[in-house]
Amino acid sequence: MTKGKTVVLGITGSIAAYKAADIASKLTQSGIKVEVVMTEPATRFISPLTLRSITGRPVVTSMWELSSEFSIEHVALAEAADIVVIAPATASVIAHLAAGMADDMLTCTVLATKAPVIIAPAMNDNMLNNPVTQENIEKLKARGFIFIEPGYGHLASGKTGKGRLAEIDKILGTIRLVLARSGDMAGKKIVITAGGTREPIDPVRYIGNRSSGKMGYALAEAARDRGAEVMLITAATCLPETTGMQVIDVATAAEMKKAVTDAVKNADALIMAAAVADYQPKNAAASKIKKDNTGLTLELVKTPDVLAEVKGDFVKVGFAAETEDLVNNARKKLKQKDLDLIVANDITDKDSGFGTDTNKVTIIDKSGKIEELPLMSKREVADKILDRVVELLKRG
Ligand code: CTP
Repeated sequence: MTKGKTVVLGITGSIAAYKAADIASKLTQSGIKVEVVMTEPATRFISPLTLRSITGRPVVTSMWELSSEFSIEHVALAEAADIVVIAPATASVIAHLAAGMADDMLTCTVLATKAPVIIAPAMNDNMLNNPVTQENIEKLKARGFIFIEPGYGHLASGKTGKGRLAEIDKILGTIRLVLARSGDMAGKKIVITAGGTREPIDPVRYIGNRSSGKMGYALAEAARDRGAEVMLITAATCLPETTGMQVIDVATAAEMKKAVTDAVKNADALIMAAAVADYQPKNAAASKIKKDNTGLTLELVKTPDVLAEVKGDFVKVGFAAETEDLVNNARKKLKQKDLDLIVANDITDKDSGFGTDTNKVTIIDKSGKIEELPLMSKREVADKILDRVVELLKRG
């Protein structure tokens, strides 16, 4: 849902200005239109040409530049913005905004916009701690400006202290969360499971599976970006941490069941993308099993079927990983587990299923309707699934 949105990125004269190029690049890559406004001091730290090349858009540096499409009618930028982000923000721009002074293109845009404004300060620790700066920040917070706390670490002065521009991922996460407020899942509580469970044999070994967690994480991030309050219950994955949602780590099918049962109590939907082991060793050995010259037989017992056993008033979506007779096997699972939707994937396809970045799925609903989707990225598949969930949530 972030696609097609417009972010006005204000850059001010701080040594951290170069980091704004990374922010602009990541936003542009995710389909957001980035309109950069630089103050004159900012152009001394980083070239407008860099930002122009990254965003593919003209960069505004002055109110008086007739070459820019926004320079004459400066409120045009303020109106085009879905969000205004100032990163890095100096003590000076914060002071000007707190005083209501519109004396350059950036402050004019911020004072003229109705869009939410995010400010990521970056400055020397003494300047940050100065009561005047703190007062200005409090004033702006009280007026609804969203501040991203600066980080602690090495400062341009050579000292260590608080004042560094917050981590880029934190800034991007905040932008996504604010943009998502107007998404079609805003206010909905969605529980998503991901990854592969691990059933211990002994303290060293386990029974696992090939799940990478990519499909579940793509779903969780897509739901977050559409405004949902996401709880991600994750078994083992190969993925870095994700932001903007509640994350619960579990190891085994039994732990997954407990976490899901608690989470669905006030959820609007459950999407089980996790690969849950069907069997676990009857008794996990307390100490490492030593090899001897004979074989080893493990006695396995069934794990709980989380999706089949968890019940309640929420939209229930499952996956079906199949190697043959895709639609029929998926239909059986849909019925047995009392699902609203099942997402079937043929795991014999090399571009689809475990570990890949793409997936080719067929979505089947209770009425028997079959939607066969072409090969697409897992994020695109996630949005297709969520389109169907949104439809079901509307029906109530
Ligand atoms: N599932 C679950 N608990 C289990 C096994 C599976 O909640 N113990 C869920 C999965 O998360 C998935 C769906 O049930 O959403 C179907 O999983 P799948 O492995 O395809 O099917 P199984 O029910 O395990 O059946 P089989 O292994 O016989 O194909």
